[in-house]
Amino acid sequence: MNYFDINDIDNLSTWINEAIELKKDPLVYKSSGANKTICLLFFNNSLRTRLSTQKAALNLGMNVMVMNFGAEGWQLEYGDGEIMDQGKSEHVIEAAQVVSQYCDIVAIRAFAKFENKEDDYQEQVLSAFMKYATVPVLNMESAIGHPLQALTDMITIAEHSTKARPKVVLSWAPHPKALPQAVANSFAQYANASDFDFVITHPKGYELDPQFVGKAMVTINQEEAFKDADFIYVKNWSPFADENYGKVINTDSNWKITAKKMEATNNGKFMHCLPVRRNVIVDDEVIDSKNSLVIKQANNRTFAAQIAIKKILESINK
Ligand code: CP
Repeated sequence: MNYFDINDIDNLSTWINEAIELKKDPLVYKSSGANKTICLLFFNNSLRTRLSTQKAALNLGMNVMVMNFGAEGWQLEYGDGEIMDQGKSEHVIEAAQVVSQYCDIVAIRAFAKFENKEDDYQEQVLSAFMKYATVPVLNMESAIGHPLQALTDMITIAEHSTKARPKVVLSWAPHPKALPQAVANSFAQYANASDFDFVITHPKGYELDPQFVGKAMVTINQEEAFKDADFIYVKNWSPFADENYGKVINTDSNWKITAKKMEATNNGKFMHCLPVRRNVIVDDEVIDSKNSLVIKQANNRTFAAQIAIKKILESINK
């Protein structure tokens, strides 16, 4: 099996509960990855994903290889039948098969490039690796999804929820650079698969792809959205709509998360996947407050990765 997105999870609640159990004894499955190797390929920067995925694999007894592919690998061609007489030195057809000979799982981070929306939304890089690799593929954030982060976020909400059906709000906040929709897309997808009163709030022009919005209530009134919320999950993303795809069209600081806005919540917890720009996305007094879960979220990245890798190992060993 691959862990590409939520469709690779047979039962989300079971995965969440297993991850919470794993935290009590992270080395309990230390023998399951013995003599197996995971290769982590990074086309983009990372702190949490890089270290937590390595940690997860080490907890499972695996060998780990890491390559900063974007900076150090050959530039890859993805097109079928291309005459490769320009800058790209290697085709993904060979690269994916070659990497597969060195490891038992290949994990890949490859963000949206914002050059061509169709390429991004068809997951050009991850799709090609899943097509040509001969070992399972783990998604460490692709063009349109971040399933390890979303699984982490569901684990964190499960640990901190005091209600059977919490109100969970995904709020846009301003950022000076154009960021992918991946984290917001996956958060929305996993939240829709959970028993939440789920609300998305963003300015006009920042509508997400409807396939991820699903049954969520969507509003451009952030103040209204925050009322009685149990969890405020904050993230910037750039527009999905064709006319402004991958551009910055709004930097309105009125969307920043402040202590005043958090007062309207039900003693709501503050969440963000990190990295975060302090006092642009969120005020210091909110992220530094006792209701901020950001450090605990980052810790849960290890256990989300560990569950995903463990499931892949089980599928290999079947
Ligand atoms: N949240 C997250 O994926 O962090 P990194 O980009 O640092 O890996």
